Amino acid sequence: MAENAAEPAAEHSATADKAAYPVGLRLAGRRVVVLGAGQVTQRRLPALVAAGADVLLISPSATPAVEAMAQTGEVRWERRRYTPGDLDGAWYALITTDDPEANRAASAEAEARRVWAVRSDDADAASAWTPATGRSEGVTVAVLTGQDPRRSAAVRDAIVEGLRDGTLAAPHHRVRTKGVALVGGGPGDPDLITVRGRRLLAEADVVIADRLGPRDLLDELPPHVEVIDAAKIPHGRFMAQEAINNALIEHAKAGKAVVRLKGGDPFVFGRGMEEAQALAEHGIPCTVVPGISSSISVPAAAGISVTHRGLAQEFTVASGHVAPDDPRSLVDWAALAGTRGTLVLLMSVENIAAIAGTLVRHGRPADTPVAVVQEGTTATQRRLDATLATVGERVRAEGIRPPAVVVIGEVVAVTPESALRPGTGSGR
Ligand SMILES: C[S@@+](CC[C@H](N)C(=O)[O-])C[C@H]1O[C@@H](n2cnc3c(N)ncnc32)[C@H](O)[C@@H]1O
Repeated sequence: MAENAAEPAAEHSATADKAAYPVGLRLAGRRVVVLGAGQVTQRRLPALVAAGADVLLISPSATPAVEAMAQTGEVRWERRRYTPGDLDGAWYALITTDDPEANRAASAEAEARRVWAVRSDDADAASAWTPATGRSEGVTVAVLTGQDPRRSAAVRDAIVEGLRDGTLAAPHHRVRTKGVALVGGGPGDPDLITVRGRRLLAEADVVIADRLGPRDLLDELPPHVEVIDAAKIPHGRFMAQEAINNALIEHAKAGKAVVRLKGGDPFVFGRGMEEAQALAEHGIPCTVVPGISSSISVPAAAGISVTHRGLAQEFTVASGHVAPDDPRSLVDWAALAGTRGTLVLLMSVENIAAIAGTLVRHGRPADTPVAVVQEGTTATQRRLDATLATVGERVRAEGIRPPAVVVIGEVVAVTPESALRPGTGSGR
C-alpha cells in the first residue's frame, strides 16, 4: 500500500501493518506544503492544483514542468531547502526531497503538528499514502493495494478504462441526460472513437448510425439497443435527412437515450448542425461529441503528414462533391490552385479528373504529387499515388471507390526515409 514512488520501508512504524483508511481530502483554499520538486512532485502537483489547494513548494531546484507551474502562478515556489517550521499552517504535506535527513526531519515535524504527510522515500514512515487515482465523468477511482504500486495502477486503469468505454456495467442511478448525443465516431477503425463517444454508445437505447464510421462497434451493442441504419449510399438506398431528423426527435421524445453515430467529426461535412437545429426546434437537448475527422486521420494512417515542416504552412479541407464548373460549387478552385499549401479533398472521387484539371489550369504544377486513400484506417485501406496530370485516369483505371480522401501537395512525397535523401527533407 505504498505511495507510488516509494522505496521499501526503511523504518517500521507501529501502524505500518494496518490497513489505510481511505478518505477524500477537500483541499480547496487549504495550505499544502510540498518539499522537493522532482518527478514525484511533478506527477502529484496537477491533482493538488485541480483540487484548488494553496500549494507552497519549497525546493532549491525544480523540473521544467514544475517550474512552469510556478511561473503561471499555479503554485508558490520558494527556492530553498526545507527548514523546520515550514509545515506551519499546512493541512497536508508531500515530502519528496532527495535528502533523507531533511525528509526525516520534515516527517517528524508533520507528526508533531498532526499534519498528514506522504513520503516518497519511505512509505512506512509516512502518515499518509497516495493511492493510484483516475477519473471518468465525475467518478474518482482511488486504489491502494499494499506494497504493490504497479498493481494499484493496473487495477485503477482497468476500472477507469471500463467506466470510460462502458464495458464496466455501473449504471447511473441519477436521471440520465435526456436528449440526443451527436457522436463523431472517427474514420472507421473502432479504436479511433473518443472514450466519451464510446461510453455514450454503451449507454444508448437507440443508435442511428451512418455508413461511415466505426460500424464494428454496433455489433458489440446489447440486443435491446435499437440500431437504425441511416446509410446514405451514393446513388443507392438513401435515408433522407428529414427522416433522420424525425427519427432522432421521435426517439428522444419517447425518453430514450439516443446516439447519432456519425463518421469522422459531426461538424466536418457531417450535417451535424442541421440535426442540432432540428432538435433545437423541438426543444430537445443535444450534446456534441467531437470525433477524429477523416480529413486528417486518413492521410495520417496512410503515412502523410499534411503540414510537413518546410513544405506546407497551411492545409485546406474542401469537398469535391460538386464539380468545379457546377453553379452550386462554393469552392474557389482558382484561389486554391494559387496556394502552396496542402489540399485535402473529401467526397471527390467522382470529380477528381475535373478538379485536377482545374487546379492545373489555374497554375498548380501538373507534376504535383497526389495520393488517394480509400477506406482509410480500416482493414481494406488502400493508397494510390499519382500526380495532378495522371490522377483522373489512375483513379478510374484502378477502380478507386468512395469513401476516399485525396491529398494534393509536396507533402505526399515525404516519407520517414525521405529525410535521408537530399532535397526531400524539411527546410525548403
Ligand atoms: C459526408 S463526408 C463526412 C466526413 C466526416 N464527417 C469526417 O469528419 O471525416 C464523407 C467523406 O469523408 C471521407 N471519408 C470518411 N471516412 C473515410 C475513410 N475511412 N477513408 C477515406 N475517406 C473517408 C470521404 O471523402 C467521404 O466521401
